[in-house]
Amino acid sequence: MKYLITGATGYIGGQMARRLHSKREHVICLTRNGKRVDDLPVIDGDLLLPSTLVNACGHADIVIHFAGALGRGLTPKMISDINVNGTLNLIHAAKNAGVKYFLHISSGAVVGPREGKPADEKTTCCPYTPYEISKYKGECKALELAQELNLPLGVARPTFTYGPGDPHKLLMFKLIKKGFFFYIGKGYSTNHPVYIDDLLDGIELMLDKKPKQEVYILGGPKPVTKRNWAETIAQELNVQPFFFRFPEKPTWLGAIVMEGLGKLIRLELPLTRSRILAMSKNWGMDISKAKTELGYSPKIDLKEGVRKTVSWYRQNKWL
Ligand SMILES: NC(=O)c1ccc[n+]([C@@H]2O[C@H](COP(=O)([O-])OP(=O)(O)OC[C@H]3O[C@@H](n4cnc5c(N)ncnc54)[C@H](OP(=O)(O)O)[C@@H]3O)[C@@H](O)[C@H]2O)c1
Repeated sequence: MKYLITGATGYIGGQMARRLHSKREHVICLTRNGKRVDDLPVIDGDLLLPSTLVNACGHADIVIHFAGALGRGLTPKMISDINVNGTLNLIHAAKNAGVKYFLHISSGAVVGPREGKPADEKTTCCPYTPYEISKYKGECKALELAQELNLPLGVARPTFTYGPGDPHKLLMFKLIKKGFFFYIGKGYSTNHPVYIDDLLDGIELMLDKKPKQEVYILGGPKPVTKRNWAETIAQELNVQPFFFRFPEKPTWLGAIVMEGLGKLIRLELPLTRSRILAMSKNWGMDISKAKTELGYSPKIDLKEGVRKTVSWYRQNKWL
């Protein structure tokens, strides 16, 4: 099988491309602006330039679509263009090029901020931020278009991914190392970290089984509280940080003011309503469907995952 991997200059796509390449699979990475991914073969392409995609898909039996806009510094329209229109452009190109299977990487975040028990694949999605909304639309429209074009397509929803080499979660580790972190509320709302190797195992199971028109949540062994997450990092770093606790309602009002001010001075200020929801609501997921139907079995618990991540950050002088 030949794999075309989008988003391989990013964190998860890059880890997947390297893993498949190390297993001697035939991998080619779609990159833009002449970017490279170690010494892997690359082909130039941009999700927003459909003409570049057909040629790229012509090199593949399977497309794994990780590329996406996570939201930082982009307008809602730019995020939607990449996560929705870009995905649909790639699906059309894959169909035209005769691709046999398309794995779309969505996100557990499509469910949106929640109270109560962990969400599963049947939970009604109420996405809130432009990123969550765009990933949800991207996922729904991808399933619809693939059905219409008769292209076999499955959807993976990774939860909050972390591990060695991850630039996105580094700031949390750095803040805790500096001696402080914060909770909104009491810190008992849930998060669902998945260690990168577990996630890649889940994605490989999907590539083996090639489920069509199915969605799978791929998360870590279990949800943890925000407190758990921060305290585990602190223990591994051998620090005793001061944890600021902000009450939810006044912080929400503060965020509204800061967002208004941010618009006036054209700067994204640190306190936003979406950050408050990320910190204060439940993001725990139920991974039973992937366990039962794919044989998914995440092995790395929080302590071990954080230990491996800190060790990598230290060795590479990121921390
Ligand atoms: N990280 C998480 O915790 C997490 C959790 C759940 C789901 N996900 C999903 O998993 C996927 C990968 O996440 P990640 O953390 O690895 O993201 P990332 O590190 O930010 O990488 C994003 C990738 O998308 C590429 N890209 C963006 N716009 C593009 C365009 N117009 N054309 C071609 N490529 C484009 C980027 O290429 P450039 O280098 O050229 O910018 C980069 O390679 C995303 O779809 C994300 O929504 C991530």
